[in-house]
Amino acid sequence: MPPITEIEDLRRIYKRRVPRMFYDYCESGSWTEQTFRENSSDFDLLRLRQRVAVDMAGRSTATRMIGQDVAMPVALAPVGLTGMQHADGEILAARAAEAFGVPFTLSTMSICSIEDVAEHTTEPFWFQVYTLKDDDFMRRLFERARDAGCSAIVITVDLQIMGQRHKDIRNGLSAPPKLTAKSLADMATRVGWGLEMLRTKRRSFGNIVGHAKGVSDPSSLASWTAEAFDPSLTWDRIGKLMEMWGGKVILKGILDADDARMAVKVGADAIVVSNHGGRQLDGAISSIRALPEIMDAVGGEIEVHLDGGIRSGQDVLKAVALGAKGTYIGRAFVYGLGARGQRGVTEALEVIHKELDTSMALCGRKRIEDVDRDILLVDDDFHRFRRNA
Ligand SMILES: Cc1cc2nc3c(=O)[nH]c(=O)nc-3n(C[C@H](O)[C@H](O)[C@H](O)COP(=O)(O)O)c2cc1C
Repeated sequence: MPPITEIEDLRRIYKRRVPRMFYDYCESGSWTEQTFRENSSDFDLLRLRQRVAVDMAGRSTATRMIGQDVAMPVALAPVGLTGMQHADGEILAARAAEAFGVPFTLSTMSICSIEDVAEHTTEPFWFQVYTLKDDDFMRRLFERARDAGCSAIVITVDLQIMGQRHKDIRNGLSAPPKLTAKSLADMATRVGWGLEMLRTKRRSFGNIVGHAKGVSDPSSLASWTAEAFDPSLTWDRIGKLMEMWGGKVILKGILDADDARMAVKVGADAIVVSNHGGRQLDGAISSIRALPEIMDAVGGEIEVHLDGGIRSGQDVLKAVALGAKGTYIGRAFVYGLGARGQRGVTEALEVIHKELDTSMALCGRKRIEDVDRDILLVDDDFHRFRRNA
């Protein structure tokens, strides 16, 4: 086994191991993929200030996210179909997160169900919901999450309607994959993945099939999702869903200071500055570029988190320096999972932790709470996009 030195090592192994349909599903953004690319490349517009002769002994990356102790300010983002990237993927990723001491967020569109993940873990995890029309279904989802001991819900507010990813259309993405000549030929070259998939019973949407009205078999799921999402979503509705849950709420998918102010108004515990990993509005600015204005607007009133484009501990450090209390990784953990299962997710977390710890030290800081904008050198271009220009 080659040593894993960076997240890119895991991506390369992942690409060889998982059917193309699922690799493409992960490794793509909407339309031209500009926002998807810039989520990562915009981190390059921030540089770190090297400091020397600062006592670096006794450092720690430990901190808190929504009042919860975390080993570093990094959670696993909700990722649909994780159980197609590796058999039982959500359970494996949740276990890796738990052992590492970081939060795991289960997507509604997961393969393993809420109950399944709860049964195979011991720590409470976070549960992500979309804003669906059906109140009964939402109520039951919240009940199930409560029964499973979930400590917070993440309401995703940037997917009332779906952005288009060309590759998913071309590949005929589905879970389980439809057996066509193309998908069979693809899967035939992914033997390890296929054998593990044959060994598990978890191959469809565990939170939905058998729970949502009119969805008893996976083939009707596409029509259910098309009908279930709520194009008439408003802040009122978000407030109602928060009431329905009654516990801690993180609103995910805020990219604008005005929306951040609304999130404060409805009483969310935290927001995630996010553009859904560049999978929704192509042409939107990267999350890292959106962060400073949002911090200026609401940083004193609400906990602000960020996701999008994080592929290293240096990226985490930059987001924290701009004020994020926590970050999330999506693709970075999926690469690890697809490459090597639970061990791969652990390796992804280890890589990011080591990079974060060492880079923080080389910037002359010993604790996450001591990291601030002062450690950054900012390219003039970073603030290039302004409203009403
Ligand atoms: C394959 C894939 C599936 C995703 N599914 C969901 C989902 O079910 N719910 C959700 O809120 N966000 C979903 N996201 C968005 C992530 O939660 C997160 O915002 C994004 O991945 C962060 O960007 P990064 O992948 O560059 O870290 C998904 C992202 C990917 C890559």
